[in-house]
Amino acid sequence: MVKYQRPRGTKDILPGETEKWQYIEDTARMLFQDYRYREIRTPMIENYHVFSRSSGDTSDIVSKEMYDFHDKGGRHIALRPEGTAGVVRAFIQNKLYGPDTPKPYKVYYMGPMFRYEHPQSGREREFHQIGVESFGSKSAEMDVEVIAMAMDLLHQYGLKHLHLALNTLGDRKTKDTYCKALIKYLEPHFNELSEDSQKRMHKNPLRVLDSKDPRDKKFVAGAPSILDYLTPEAKAHFDRVKQLLDALGIKYYVSPDVVRGLDYYNHTIFEIMVKSSAFGNGFTTVCAGGRYNKLVHQLGGPEVPGIGFGLGVERLILVMKSKHLPFPKANPLDAFVVNIGDKADIASLKLVQDLRNQGISTDRDYTGRKPGSQFKMANKLDAHYTLTIGDKELKNNSVSIKSMDSGKQVTVPLDKVAKHFSDVVNKDFDE
Ligand code: HAM
Repeated sequence: MVKYQRPRGTKDILPGETEKWQYIEDTARMLFQDYRYREIRTPMIENYHVFSRSSGDTSDIVSKEMYDFHDKGGRHIALRPEGTAGVVRAFIQNKLYGPDTPKPYKVYYMGPMFRYEHPQSGREREFHQIGVESFGSKSAEMDVEVIAMAMDLLHQYGLKHLHLALNTLGDRKTKDTYCKALIKYLEPHFNELSEDSQKRMHKNPLRVLDSKDPRDKKFVAGAPSILDYLTPEAKAHFDRVKQLLDALGIKYYVSPDVVRGLDYYNHTIFEIMVKSSAFGNGFTTVCAGGRYNKLVHQLGGPEVPGIGFGLGVERLILVMKSKHLPFPKANPLDAFVVNIGDKADIASLKLVQDLRNQGISTDRDYTGRKPGSQFKMANKLDAHYTLTIGDKELKNNSVSIKSMDSGKQVTVPLDKVAKHFSDVVNKDFDE
């Protein structure tokens, strides 16, 4: 028999692990609510051009990593490699820039993304992002809200010593003059560059700076800095962002070598890195984002600016585990009902249902275990209470309830158990 394996670069997230994911997602939802971001859910598949026209066809994401195919109707479809482009498409298609929507329009999303990458620790082919996008404000205050929210979220997970790398790509004029200077710098080294960079150098020299190939990396250090090419407007925006971050006491490192791997950015870009033994004690980027003032227009909408970030959930969990940060206890069970003898079976089944109806998480045996094994099972499941019902209890119309933490035992009339259970629990907590 063929034993099927999950596709390379994907993971099964099993019970025991899913609770960690729920905790991460719940924490993010609560925080986003505080900042007035609301959830948006867009399809996992989009028209291929939604990505090729936004991320850019010189980006690795579009040129090498996209999962794309023609569907049975001949449409060119792609699995989303990232969240921003789909959200922008939805923003335009649903006219969320209209007069009836609050400005800025602030959304968050969480879900799987797909990139055909070389799988390694923290780099999957199916991975998950928690992301936010804010539309309709050009102000530096908005940039800082988004950055502060990302830092806030990572702090809530218990991460410390975050390294916020900050840069700007300026406006169109900045990018144009800088790219010319970059080409001038790179041209004499053309033959030493990787084949990819040779192909991209004239079309999009920023991609050379972002290359992971060691042949390209050695030229990054000596490359001209974009900060020397900022127009007065671009410089003013960046200065204001830095001033506001200072005012909020958020430490950052201006990093002209950070250019991001997606084409749609302008002005502020940032990456939040953290050092972790999960990545050989080096830095890994857990969260990254930036401003994209032209993207909505580029995808066919009006001129509406935007900014956002994406947080890699797999990377976050790897980092949290490596730092032994606490996750809430997995799935606590309130009660386990041990039933002894056939006669008690129906009564125990009813009791289990009654308790569940009261919102008390309850389980019982379904495999004919002997009482001793049922007690062991209750222990294994970490139940807070074990309720025993057997011939003796049936005769007395009662159930014995034992607190597994204190060892204390009480006997309660059968028809009052569900009602009395919460009192017992509360009393136990009070003591
Ligand atoms: P990105 O830098 O491509 O940006 O991805 C954001 C984060 O997703 C990365 O920092 C990383 O933690 C995680 N990530 C990316 N690729 C993988 C992978 N193959 N395996 C595991 N984790 C990965 C974006 O996607 C932009 N949409 C962010 C954004 C939102 N910019 C503005 N708004």
